[in-house]
Amino acid sequence: MPRHFISLHDLTSAELAGLLQLGLDVKAHRARYAGALAGQTLAMIFQKSSTRTRVSFEVAMLQLGGHGLFLSGRDIQLGRGETISDTAQVLSRYVDGIMARTFAHQDVLDLARFGSVPVINGLTDDLHPCQVVADLLTIREAFGDLEGRKIAYVGDGNNVAHSLMFGAAKAGMNIAIASPAGYRVQEKYLELARADAEAAGTRIEVTEDPREAVRGASAVYTDVWASMGQEEEAAKRLRAFAGYQVDAAMMALAHPDAIFLHCLPCHRGEEVAAEVVDGPQSRVFDEAENRLHAQKAILLWLMGGVALPA
Ligand code: CP
Ligand code: NVA
Repeated sequence: MPRHFISLHDLTSAELAGLLQLGLDVKAHRARYAGALAGQTLAMIFQKSSTRTRVSFEVAMLQLGGHGLFLSGRDIQLGRGETISDTAQVLSRYVDGIMARTFAHQDVLDLARFGSVPVINGLTDDLHPCQVVADLLTIREAFGDLEGRKIAYVGDGNNVAHSLMFGAAKAGMNIAIASPAGYRVQEKYLELARADAEAAGTRIEVTEDPREAVRGASAVYTDVWASMGQEEEAAKRLRAFAGYQVDAAMMALAHPDAIFLHCLPCHRGEEVAAEVVDGPQSRVFDEAENRLHAQKAILLWLMGGVALPA
């Protein structure tokens, strides 16, 4: 059974710390890892749009000496009804790893269940774990450490929020999540993450008050109010999230050194004010760059047989 990368809940704290360390090393010493995945192919299935995930995985594979094979969900037979299980078994005969961005989280679980190569979650409706490794790398670079710091997430209790809860707990960080009623994180992920937090001795706070959430935070994070697949709810969500925009006044309540993060793409004037995302506290482009380094670490670990640094 190969090791997969589907949820940060599946990693130990030591493994997450090792991935971050490897990500920093890969970033500092790119040439050292050239050729580490020579001759290997990563199939990249996209059922949803992507700029960062697609480009960073494809470039990562190239820089590691391998190949990233872009497969649009519309063009492969999956889009015409071929099953996930057949797709997983066929691709496993050709490629050395599968990265998938799907709607249903179960599809990524099934790729792992029926395939015989490592499967990487490139975002599902429920989780976005690769993003959060890059986010943690960005916070680590900004402050030199993670443990004991607080992340505030303001907005929709979505895939990014779920993975951030797991990532924060495994990294020894506290997290506060502020969402309006009806848009909170899903109870099943909150329960799992609370177990991780309890094991790590950290706190997860869920509130409707964004001001309370950001108080004392080292990183303030937000994401779009309508995720991919929720386009029809956009107008309703715009009303529901009134008062949840991260603006300069909200940032002023965080720690004075706080950084602003967003997985991107963002909507200026909705979940974040332009003065924040384009302002001096914003690290969103470092964060986007770190997708490349974080994912190289994941690929080296799963496909390159590279041991995670202790
Ligand atoms: N943050 C992120 O996953 O971006 P893309 O949708 O562009 O891949
Ligand atoms: N929550 C967003 C993240 C995009 C990277 C979405 O799922 O559309």
